Amino acid sequence: MNKLSLANLPTKIYKLERWSAETGKNIFIKRDDQTGSEWSGNKIRKLEFAVKEAMEMGCNMLITCGGIQSNHCRATVSVATHLGMRSAVLLRISDTPPVEGNYFLDMLLGADVRFCTREEYSNSRMEIMKQMAQEYAAQGLRPYIIPEGASFGVGTMGYYHAMKEVAAQEDKMDVVFDTVVVATGSGGTAAGLQLSNMINGYGKKVYGVCVCDDEPYFQNICLNCAKDCLPYLVKDGEISASRAEELAKNMKKEDFHFIEGYVGRGYALSRPEELEHIKRMARMEGVVFDPVYTGKATFGMVNEMKAGGMLERSKNILFIHTGGLYGLFPVSRDFDF
Ligand SMILES: Cc1ncc(COP(=O)(O)O)c(C=O)c1O
Repeated sequence: MNKLSLANLPTKIYKLERWSAETGKNIFIKRDDQTGSEWSGNKIRKLEFAVKEAMEMGCNMLITCGGIQSNHCRATVSVATHLGMRSAVLLRISDTPPVEGNYFLDMLLGADVRFCTREEYSNSRMEIMKQMAQEYAAQGLRPYIIPEGASFGVGTMGYYHAMKEVAAQEDKMDVVFDTVVVATGSGGTAAGLQLSNMINGYGKKVYGVCVCDDEPYFQNICLNCAKDCLPYLVKDGEISASRAEELAKNMKKEDFHFIEGYVGRGYALSRPEELEHIKRMARMEGVVFDPVYTGKATFGMVNEMKAGGMLERSKNILFIHTGGLYGLFPVSRDFDF
């Protein structure tokens, strides 16, 4: 497989006993928050493929972008530094941010940090990163741009393979997950999981819980990620060129499924009931979810497992904990103890 080997894999899967008993389901958790320390979380699986490509292209610098508390940016910076590469991150801000959480780690790990406004980020983040790349190139560096969340073709390989890892673990554990749930922020994780589900015929329901935007937005992104991933799968011998051609023709947006309704106050903004849920889960299972992604996703699961919810019929549910712990500390004062 054409990737770097950085993450601690396979990540553990185990049953959340008390949450399962409370809901009458079998709820399992996959600890992708434990893929490492500095590069903990889901992004390292995508970066193992993307950064390998960067190195093969002779690049010695990684440029990427995200919110001020982006886990993806922090993971990218840590990988770059680990490999002796330079890194730069474009962070979206509204006010002057305190140096804390992931942003603090970006600084600590030596990234060149640039800021942009929300408008600049939504309208022209790729153009800004390209300009940055030109500047660094003029200094003699060879930058490789990773789009938001590493949600692009080569990055999608990360969760394509994570789904295969799940299937191998199911065999060992003698359990079959009918449903896989994950938080969705830029789409590449859900895209890889569902692409693998389709190609390898696992027959699972894969749901991304939107923590921003909505289902049509993520369906578009996922379809693009999945299509752009196909050449990499062919190159790696996962599928034949003719299978890739057939998939490219037949895959559609509706193949990717999302749960809406849990964005709450907006991306990275918490409601008291979400923080209360994080506290409750921490005390019930000893598992800490983050406020931006996994807290919102599992808050949504609580509701969706009830009568009439999207997970009502699911029996064996696997939630993939994608990390985000460093983003919890900046909101610690908002918790009610
Ligand atoms: C902790 C965490 N969970 C989930 C996600 C969502 O993954 P994706 O961007 O692939 O949708 C992200 C990043 O956006 C993340 O940092």
